[in-house]
Amino acid sequence: MTSPESIHTISRHILEKIDNFQTNATGIILGSGLGEAITKLDSAIEIPYSEIPGFPQSTVKGHSGSLIYGFMEEKPVLVFSGRFHIYEGYSAAEACTPVRVMGELGIKRIFITNAAGALNPQFDAGDLMLITDQINFTGHSPLTGPNNDDWGVRFPDMSKVYCDKLRAIAVAAAKDKGVRLERGVYVEVTGPNLETPAETRMFKRLGADAVGMSTAIEAIAAVHMGIKVMGIACLTNKNLPDCMAETTHEAVIEQAAKSSAAMSTLIREIISRLD
Ligand code: 6GU
Repeated sequence: MTSPESIHTISRHILEKIDNFQTNATGIILGSGLGEAITKLDSAIEIPYSEIPGFPQSTVKGHSGSLIYGFMEEKPVLVFSGRFHIYEGYSAAEACTPVRVMGELGIKRIFITNAAGALNPQFDAGDLMLITDQINFTGHSPLTGPNNDDWGVRFPDMSKVYCDKLRAIAVAAAKDKGVRLERGVYVEVTGPNLETPAETRMFKRLGADAVGMSTAIEAIAAVHMGIKVMGIACLTNKNLPDCMAETTHEAVIEQAAKSSAAMSTLIREIISRLD
């Protein structure tokens, strides 16, 4: 499922369905509840994941599961609405199938979004957070096993996972559009359980500002392939060790859906500013 051959086969199927695919497209992965963040693409072609042979299927409520190619502000974008998580039983490499496919298609820039819990007490539910750096706390890497040298090197550098230039564009775009955009470190755990107060305290002390169940391994796979990465977390709930409130998946999805409009405004503005 994750071999170079299967990624190649999946990519060929996608190219058969999209006429005139442009490799300068920006790839976008939409997180839980954020399916509405990208609507109204011009000349959109939608391919349900179920129609892509060999592609994994989303098993989570709130993750729709389709690939959409189209234009936003006259710029080509390839949107993966619905992703795969380690907690669904996928390996780290399987969870990174969308990233591998984007790399195989020649995409050079991706935006990764997610729903996350806020650990930084200054952040509020409903805020967006630009990811400045990450901690992969899953205990897994998508790069274990034989290295495919056509994708990248065996020991990729991780000193700059999130592209400085894209970050600067995001900050300027948020300012202009009046979208509140925090900045911070994201920690990925496998889930599916949320954190105990002791774990939350630990992650705060480790320097994380938000915690979630995706993104870090995908960013690793992207950097491995030389793809530039921008990450935006939608903070769906406050995760404060000394006054932990109960969090449900439904509440997370509902809050993410409420933040979709701000996410959409921000992504659209960033895309419009790309060369
Ligand atoms: Cl509080 N924790 C984790 N691990 N993922 C989340 C979350 C919390 N809120 C949204 N996603």
